[in-house]
Amino acid sequence: MKKITFAAFVAFWASVMTVAAMSWLSPEPAMRDDSALPEYTLKEVAEHDSLDSCWKVIEGKVYDFTEYIPDHPTPPRIMEAWCGREATEAMRTKGIGRDHSPAAWAMMEPYLIGRLIEKD
Ligand code: HEM
Repeated sequence: MKKITFAAFVAFWASVMTVAAMSWLSPEPAMRDDSALPEYTLKEVAEHDSLDSCWKVIEGKVYDFTEYIPDHPTPPRIMEAWCGREATEAMRTKGIGRDHSPAAWAMMEPYLIGRLIEKD
C-alpha cells in the first residue's frame, strides 16, 4: 500500500512539474509591431466604401471587413454605413450607445490590414 501511495505521490508531482515546465518554456506571444503594417490615408480608405470592399478605421488601424459583413449579427446596411470611414465611435457605441463586447473587439484582429497615416 505504501508503494502505491508513493507512486501516486511521484506521479502527481511529475505531472505538476511537467505542466509548470511547459508554461515556462512556451514563448511569450510575440508583440505585434505596428510600424511594420502598411500605411493608408483616410482618402485611400474612403475608396473602399461599399459591401464589395469595406475598409474601416478603428483606433488608428485600418481593417478590411468585406469578408466579415455577412457574419455580423445585423442587416449588412448597419455595417455598410461605416465602410470607407473612421468608425471608432461606431464600434464603441454600435450606434445605440452600447459598446461591443470584448469578444467582438477581439474578432477584429484577422481583418487588420494597415495603419492610418495623417497625410493626404
Ligand atoms: C463599426 C461599425 C459597427 C456598427 C455600427 C455595429 C453595430 C452593431 C449592432 C447594432 C449590433 C447589435 C446590437 C446589440 O448588440 O444588441 C452589433 C452586434 C455585434 N457586432 Fe457590431 N457593429 C460594428 C462593427 C463590428 C465589427 C467590426 C465587429 C467584429 C469584427 C462586430 C461584431 C459584433 C458582434 C460580435 C456583435 C454581437 C454583440 C457583441 O458581441 O457586442 N461589429 N453590432
